[in-house]
Amino acid sequence: MSPDTARQTALRAAVAQLQAADIPSPLWEARHLLCDLEGITPTDIIAYPDLPVHHITQYQDWVALRASGVPMSRITGRRNFWGLEFHVTPATLDPRMDSEVLVKEALALIPTDQTCDIADIGTGTGCLILALLHDRPLATGTGLDISIEALKTAQSNADALGLSGRVRLVESDWLSALQPQSIDILVSNPPYIVQGEIQHLDPAVRDHDPILALDGGTDGLDAYRAIIETAPKVLRPGGWIALEIGWDQGQTVPNLLNKAGFLRISCHQDTAGRDRVVLGQKPDTTALKKTLGKDRAKG
Ligand SMILES: C[S@@+](CC[C@H](N)C(=O)[O-])C[C@H]1O[C@@H](n2cnc3c(N)ncnc32)[C@H](O)[C@@H]1O
Repeated sequence: MSPDTARQTALRAAVAQLQAADIPSPLWEARHLLCDLEGITPTDIIAYPDLPVHHITQYQDWVALRASGVPMSRITGRRNFWGLEFHVTPATLDPRMDSEVLVKEALALIPTDQTCDIADIGTGTGCLILALLHDRPLATGTGLDISIEALKTAQSNADALGLSGRVRLVESDWLSALQPQSIDILVSNPPYIVQGEIQHLDPAVRDHDPILALDGGTDGLDAYRAIIETAPKVLRPGGWIALEIGWDQGQTVPNLLNKAGFLRISCHQDTAGRDRVVLGQKPDTTALKKTLGKDRAKG
């Protein structure tokens, strides 16, 4: 065995390379790449530092990619979201931790002991709908996307997580494939970057996330307008919409919901305190009619 292939030696060289490239947390990243590639744990590196790295050339390639700014998940093809592992491909957005706020807020709307039909518009890897179905075993879901390649990735994630029996993955332009009044909770993290700002994004986002997942049109609101316009048709009375938003859309998106007739509109923040999720409820006119009927009967 060449001494260069020993775990400890390879790791040290990788840390030095990442450090020189100003990658934050170089030790953590070098270790994560090594463990992912070799199928070992950080403890294995400490306990058996002299064992060889079996895929040393690939490890060196991965470290070079990371040093050049390629995001970790684009190298390993995997991302942890909501404690679950998702495959990430060039056709999908790399799921963001911030989107876990949307999962948390949507879960609060879904009873644990009742069935519920959930739709996820622009599903990408399927991270939102699959996280929701994972935590709500009685719920069923539909993940919709205009990208066939993204849907293939979502399907492989559903299979790997054992959730394919409760989710349908459907090609659709926004909500067009959904039946009227068929959904209890509609969630979406739509593309919301203002078109003119895309070129100024961090290269890790601009050069690796698909443009279809980023481009929100000239004011960043194109997708919200399309989704909110049709949402009342596909939601059941009393159903909810839960939308991820950009940090500066905490006024504009609630206004769109208000104009579309949604009630109980609220805005929720991420861990950094920025506006991140907006909720709204479709009025339950059937309940209103019943109440009115009772009032009339009394009167
Ligand atoms: C910001 S990504 C969100 C992906 C995933 N839900 C997540 O949170 O990681 C937006 C998704 O919307 C999809 N999309 C873009 N235009 C669409 C359209 N007209 N109809 C349906 N989906 C669309 C993209 O392909 C992309 O997967």
